[in-house]
Amino acid sequence: MFNPTELIRKKRDGGKPSREELEFLIKGYLDGTIPEYQMSAFLMAVFFRRMDFEETSVFTDVMLHSGVVVDLSSIPGIKVDKHSTGGVGDKVSIILAPMVAACGVPVPMISGRGLGHTGGTLDKLESIPGFRTNLSLEEYKRVIAEVGVVMIGQTKEIAPADKLMYALRDVTGTVESIPLISGSIMSKKLAEGIDALVLDIKTGRGAFMQKQEDAFELAQNLIAIGTNFGKTTIGFLTDMNQPLGLAAGNWLEIVECIDCLRGKHIPDLMEVTYVLGGAMVMLGGKSKTIQEGIEQCKEVIHNRKAFDKFVEMVKRHEGNIFYIMNPESYPQSKFNIEIKSNQTGYISGIDALEIGHTCIQLGAGRMKVDDVIDPNAGVIFKKKIGDKVNTGETLATMFTDVERVVQESANRVVNAFTFSETPVQSPTLIHALIDKDGVHEWKTAV
Ligand code: URA
Repeated sequence: MFNPTELIRKKRDGGKPSREELEFLIKGYLDGTIPEYQMSAFLMAVFFRRMDFEETSVFTDVMLHSGVVVDLSSIPGIKVDKHSTGGVGDKVSIILAPMVAACGVPVPMISGRGLGHTGGTLDKLESIPGFRTNLSLEEYKRVIAEVGVVMIGQTKEIAPADKLMYALRDVTGTVESIPLISGSIMSKKLAEGIDALVLDIKTGRGAFMQKQEDAFELAQNLIAIGTNFGKTTIGFLTDMNQPLGLAAGNWLEIVECIDCLRGKHIPDLMEVTYVLGGAMVMLGGKSKTIQEGIEQCKEVIHNRKAFDKFVEMVKRHEGNIFYIMNPESYPQSKFNIEIKSNQTGYISGIDALEIGHTCIQLGAGRMKVDDVIDPNAGVIFKKKIGDKVNTGETLATMFTDVERVVQESANRVVNAFTFSETPVQSPTLIHALIDKDGVHEWKTAV
């Protein structure tokens, strides 16, 4: 029996808790004997004092074994998943999972909710009326076996420690920490029954790791943990300075995914989706190279097999297909505000962090653990970096039900844009490919 206050002090003062001490804290938090205020203090101590690689691995292992580790070995095929470290407008998983499954690679996916200023796959999926992200373990296994793709959240059985700690970190300012992100992501991913993993490590204004060197450190941690646990793990370092794609907000992003699954090409969103998808197809043994995997992904988008797989998955999660087939029938926001440019020039930046915080203010994210999300709230961009605009042209449309935030949010959206008088290139999207052997330049065009 340990003393939780002593453990908090130990971490606060730069000490290294043992496996037994971490088990005591995490199990105690799960069974209610360690209260939220003590866990919050411990998380803040980790935030400032960090953990070395060995401590992070033990922490991940304790998180992983807070629940069951699913065995999917009876399901044929190499099971591959993808996880992003979090961004604004990052809806890649929702296009990619059915797309890769349509290429014949099973994709069992456990995702998270909105975290900090970033959106979460679960909140996006739950904006589809009826969609259940809380399938039981048995249902999870049945859907992956029969459909080839399943997308759920942490449960009481799978990665329960992450379920609770994720929500607590979201509201206690303890998200941007390499060991906490590593434990959170890898405990979910190692629990879900995969053979291989592709990581999307975001860097830039709207990422948890704004500096590239921190993003590299996070990538190397995640890849080393995956590799040590016997899973082939590779990662891509990708740009998160401006929001990805054209929509930020839960249902707005689902509509964008439906459009892309039906063949619409939104360049930055589809470039990231194809590259990550191509890597998954390769790791799943269905192509020799990432490039060949990308070609297969394009094929299933163009022949609609990816869209059909998405529809099949939504049905199996009890989502209402009517809204997938007729997204325009979805209930509308009370306020739908056009944001106009107050200058002429080329867009040189769209501050993803500011857009993420504004989306929370509009109702698309949480400020407290029990806040209810408005699925319609968010922003749709009409212009992105590199586009030329004239004064008075629409930059974006903003959606909310909350009248009192309209003016301030509209100012925040317009001020998130920066301009240049001379033409601007769109930013490099994929900075590098990282695997257990190191960092590799990424040049392949999509
Ligand atoms: N994604 C997760 O699942 N956890 C984190 O901590 C950050 C991003």
